[in-house]
Amino acid sequence: MTRYFRPNVARMAGYVPGEQPRDGGFIKLNTNENPYPPSPRVKEAIVATLTDRLRLYPDPMSTAFRQAAAKLHGIEPEMILAGNGSDDVLTIVTRAFVGPGDPAAYATPSYLLYSTLIQLQDGRAVLLPYSSEWTLDLADLAVPGLKLVYIANPDSPSGTAMPRERIAEILRTADCPVLVDEAYGDFADSRYHCIPLLGDHPNLIVSRSFSKGYSLAGIRLGYLAASAEMVEHLVKVKDSYNCDLLSQAAGVAALEDQSYLAQTRSKVQATRARLGDALRSLGYNVPESQSNFVWATGGPAPSRETFQRLKERRILVRLMSYPGYPEGLRVSVGTDDEIDQFLEALRQVI
Ligand SMILES: Cc1ncc(COP(=O)(O)O)c(C=O)c1O
Repeated sequence: MTRYFRPNVARMAGYVPGEQPRDGGFIKLNTNENPYPPSPRVKEAIVATLTDRLRLYPDPMSTAFRQAAAKLHGIEPEMILAGNGSDDVLTIVTRAFVGPGDPAAYATPSYLLYSTLIQLQDGRAVLLPYSSEWTLDLADLAVPGLKLVYIANPDSPSGTAMPRERIAEILRTADCPVLVDEAYGDFADSRYHCIPLLGDHPNLIVSRSFSKGYSLAGIRLGYLAASAEMVEHLVKVKDSYNCDLLSQAAGVAALEDQSYLAQTRSKVQATRARLGDALRSLGYNVPESQSNFVWATGGPAPSRETFQRLKERRILVRLMSYPGYPEGLRVSVGTDDEIDQFLEALRQVI
């Protein structure tokens, strides 16, 4: 069968998403979903969309959504492109810039999908290792013919973020588009947000997700912000109707309820601080997180066994291994009650 496939597709393993158990009953802290429900305005907007209009194709450019996102960020609607989740945005960007044999670089340890997207294009992955202070070395960007750089900021699994000034240095150094993936940006202090850099850096693309801050992982909506000229070309790469009617309506309603986002964000941030401190007091190394999860390495017991024992107790976290780094547990910030149960179980198993 493999002979039918492009050799790079036949060879590659494919991205493995985090476990989504179907049988319920788990405290689910493994895929960084928001523990709080979406804004009530989202449900109203979706219900209002359930009319005979479903017969018709949706707006291919998600115009109302682009306007709402542009207003929020103080930029022009032409600088926004909506996607079917931010993964779709990452796919569009990779397809636009990376061809067979082309080098494309990503920070590591980070989101594993970057590598999969490069493999799909038959590109050449270049790794940019984080330093022990969770920053990147500008010298590593000196790769001849580099076509694209991906940086998750905040990063996953570390949860750490580089300040906007550091990203500006990277943008000045890299002679190619730099995609700053802000899927977790809603949980970070605003000094880490990079959309304000767009005016000075034509090679910047910032992606955003509705799956985390807005509690809408089930809807599949994300977007990118870039120069209007960049967006004009990226549009050519997207599927015609990449965002459906329901997700477009949900996205507008969610963006327009910023006070709800602020409430859930501050609850997540408070629980995050408590979770990080508790793990540190148990002996884990936990970098300062700007995300809705923390990354725990070291500690009193091997991560793999701890992961398994927690799972037996119906608590699901994410075990992550990266070559050259110690295995660790990435723990999403749940409700206070979920985190109390997690910490109680963890104390028992270690
Ligand atoms: C760093 C990073 N970027 C992007 C995504 C994808 O988000 P979405 O649900 O918007 O496709 C994730 C999902 O976990 C992520 O961790």
